[in-house]
Amino acid sequence: MDLSIKYLGLNLKSPIVVGSSGITTSIENLKKIEKSGAGAIVLKSIFEEEIYNEYESVIKEELKEDAPNLGYLDYYDFKIKEENIKNYINLIKEAKAAIDIPVIASINCVCSYEWDFFAKKIQEAGADALEVNLFILPSDFSKTAQEIEEKYFKLVDKIKQILDIPVAIKISYYFSNLAAFVKKLSETGIDGIVTFNRFFHPDFDIDNFTVIPSNVLSFPSDLGISLRWTSILSGRLGCDLIASTGVHDGTAVIKQLLAGADAVQTVSTLYKHGVGYVSEMIAELEAWMKKHNFEKIDDFKGKMSQVNSPNPAEYERVQFMKYFEHKKYDLD
Ligand SMILES: Cc1cc2nc3c(=O)[nH]c(=O)nc-3n(C[C@H](O)[C@H](O)[C@H](O)COP(=O)(O)O)c2cc1C
Repeated sequence: MDLSIKYLGLNLKSPIVVGSSGITTSIENLKKIEKSGAGAIVLKSIFEEEIYNEYESVIKEELKEDAPNLGYLDYYDFKIKEENIKNYINLIKEAKAAIDIPVIASINCVCSYEWDFFAKKIQEAGADALEVNLFILPSDFSKTAQEIEEKYFKLVDKIKQILDIPVAIKISYYFSNLAAFVKKLSETGIDGIVTFNRFFHPDFDIDNFTVIPSNVLSFPSDLGISLRWTSILSGRLGCDLIASTGVHDGTAVIKQLLAGADAVQTVSTLYKHGVGYVSEMIAELEAWMKKHNFEKIDDFKGKMSQVNSPNPAEYERVQFMKYFEHKKYDLD
């Protein structure tokens, strides 16, 4: 059975990519992931914010001094960035030396002027591609949707200008016109779009009146979020589409491929079942392909995307009315 695919112009031996997370920071894990049959890995993101937080704390320390030596700040800026980048570059190099499947680096930047600094170093270190984790929470009451979207296009423009390796953009679903935005983004010259990233969801501790994280890992039921959009977007974009969120087993992989994903990413299920779990997902995919006489991924990819559907409206149904008509619930 041939599970090989092409994603971002790279040859992957299977469509399952292990997504960016703490799992992909250890070389030992990467070796296990490769052995389990994954097609590629995305390293944990280097977060520009982390670097800034560190930078800020150094500045604060410096300002506590009676006579702050501000002349050192340039040095700190350079040194801290160098230190973080150095560690990340080492991770890329070690990963490339340890495994043969493609190593995709990941950056999470918030300021456009820092992108080139990170991106160039990552390319030089030998990453096969770069995934750019882009997220601007649309919570600024004074900004229009267009102003926020413009920031994405500016960043993408800049990153494409300076890199030769393939670039994928990982986005959220917080857009007022998601389909049109993704289509426009896919036509900027980038190589892939990852739908979707998962974010910190705030919850409240109602006794201590503090904000706490909730549901760090996804649930299998979260698949519906990405599956709808894979179905709607696939076959209509100018770049690859990789589905991420809620892919917990082989069945979910099959569904995303049927919806038209070029590849899928998985993370939470590996936290739950161990890093070698990809082999079980692949076994499930192969068994299903055998049952339906499919020899390669292209034999069924996109079979259930909206563009290939005789009833496209089904993918856009959002109300529960019909569901409740058919299902009888004992609500007493
Ligand atoms: C513990 C944890 C750490 C993560 N770290 C990153 C990260 O550094 N960069 C990133 O782009 N996504 C990160 N993610 C998001 C995942 O790559 C993935 O997009 C998300 O979890 C949805 O996939 P899943 O449903 O298979 O978990 C992280 C997710 C988890 C659970």
